[in-house]
Amino acid sequence: MEIVELKAVSRVYRNGEHEQYALKQVDLTLKEGKFIVILGPSGAGKSTLLNLLGGLDSPTSGTIHVAGKDISTLTEDQLADYRAATVGFVFQSYNLIPTLTVLENVALVKEIAPDPLSSHEMLKEVGLADHIHQFPSELSGGEQQRVSIARALAKNPRILLCDEPTGALDSETGVLVLKLLLRMAREMGKTIIVVTHNQQIAKMADTVVRVKNGRIVSCEDQEHPMTAEEVDW
Ligand SMILES: Nc1ncnc2c1ncn2[C@@H]1O[C@H](COP(=O)(O)OP(=O)(O)O)[C@@H](O)[C@H]1O
Ligand SMILES: [Mg+2]
Repeated sequence: MEIVELKAVSRVYRNGEHEQYALKQVDLTLKEGKFIVILGPSGAGKSTLLNLLGGLDSPTSGTIHVAGKDISTLTEDQLADYRAATVGFVFQSYNLIPTLTVLENVALVKEIAPDPLSSHEMLKEVGLADHIHQFPSELSGGEQQRVSIARALAKNPRILLCDEPTGALDSETGVLVLKLLLRMAREMGKTIIVVTHNQQIAKMADTVVRVKNGRIVSCEDQEHPMTAEEVDW
């Protein structure tokens, strides 16, 4: 089943007279429950695409349907509801609140999400059951990223949007995070969308979307994606 459908989506930034197309006439459909990698060089438009899917930004033109709903014409309030209910975010920079414990960081989403899951359970799911009362600064980078994944999952979203989730991690820790994200697709049926410039990560994907100069260059399904162990990191 399709969960994401973009039709003729453009996002234009205007600097005085100059128009910069971060995305240009993009068409894209993505299937639910898949591990999807969006690959492209810096400046290609990957983050712009992810931000549009996440309701953090709106297109200049075109339509975006997510889970059967047109999100391209929503008001700010409606977009906030959409973000709270449908998408979870994982960023390169974790974005944890330093003065809250691990558990408190995750539990925060209960304030906004309409149908949250247990914070404890999600922290157990990412292997951090023994760290819930620690502060982010007491954890390694990989552990902090796993907290941010638990926080995203606790919203109980259908889609997890991950912008360079392993960008700040060493490759061994990065692989653990990727395996965790893959498991969320396989075992929880989440649609995982990972943006990266790392070609190796794409080898694990069910679907690889290549972006360049604001355009989708290709969108290919891989019937037999590699396991993390098979990829040469
Ligand atoms: N807020 C902004 N204002 C102006 N230009 C922007 C803005 N955000 C992104 N861009 C431009 O849009 C293009 C795509 O950016 P981005 O989506 O961040 O690329 P990527 O994530 O692939 O590195 C780049 O040329 C960037 O400079
Ligand atoms: Mg980016």
